[in-house]
Amino acid sequence: MKLLDLRKLAKSELRSLGIDEQDADFVIAETLNCRVTDLPLIDEVLPKQVVAINKNLAKRKAKMPVSKIFRHAYFYGLEFKIDNKVLSPRQDSEILVETALKFIENNNLTTALDLCTGSGCLAVSVAKHAKISVTATDISTHAINIAKRNAKNNGVDINFVKSDMFERLTGKFDLIISNPPYIETQTCHNLDDEVRLYDPVLALDGGADGLDFYRIIAANAKNFLALGGYLILEIGYNQKRAVKNLFKDYNFVECVLDYGGRDRVMVFKNE
Ligand SMILES: C[S@@+](CC[C@H](N)C(=O)[O-])C[C@H]1O[C@@H](n2cnc3c(N)ncnc32)[C@H](O)[C@@H]1O
Repeated sequence: MKLLDLRKLAKSELRSLGIDEQDADFVIAETLNCRVTDLPLIDEVLPKQVVAINKNLAKRKAKMPVSKIFRHAYFYGLEFKIDNKVLSPRQDSEILVETALKFIENNNLTTALDLCTGSGCLAVSVAKHAKISVTATDISTHAINIAKRNAKNNGVDINFVKSDMFERLTGKFDLIISNPPYIETQTCHNLDDEVRLYDPVLALDGGADGLDFYRIIAANAKNFLALGGYLILEIGYNQKRAVKNLFKDYNFVECVLDYGGRDRVMVFKNE
């Protein structure tokens, strides 16, 4: 079969289902184990390749995200193994990494803690791009195991601790970063199928008002943050004011916007 015909058909099928048609090329390229930019160079695909492509396209049509179909995702230029039991890294969270790297460099921070590490995407990206000792925690043993694998595959050394938030932590850190669950419980039931069906609720549900984890962090972070240390948190686009209120005991430094111009990352200082 001509690959161009297959691509056109796949794109129109995804479009008719309200799915970004570009995903057709991502699915086809991943299945053929090549880059999207190589696709125009391929004329024919073998019948068995067509079968494999259609099998993966069927998953995408069932709203499975491309990252979940192929069990890996790219984040901050690195590759991360993932599965249905860990959150797929979101592009907007790269803003948190970028912000953390800026504060690490400008303030010579040497120790960091990543709370709620999931796939480890934040911890691994920071450890990969800065000279800093990183500790990362999650309540999920499965997430910790995946994050350990991601650290190893990306050649960084991270101290992983399975912990319910701060419970099993000791010591002080120059920097605490976190992308905690922050979606209101009620909203979790109404999320897009791509999120609701394929990301674990443990990674999403932030309690009745979505702020449970920020409350825990606000109440405990001072015990684990060095004086003059920084706290960098991802937030929901509409949570800036509420989170600022919760962190009244810390100095608000800035709120960084995501690629879509929405409030996404808040920085506080322990002074
Ligand atoms: C929004 S995900 C963030 C994952 C990753 N840091 C990222 O940015 O893609 C939140 C993570 O918090 C973890 N989590 C949920 N409740 C927790 C708790 N009580 N203590 C520690 N981690 C928790 C979940 O297992 C999940 O991995």
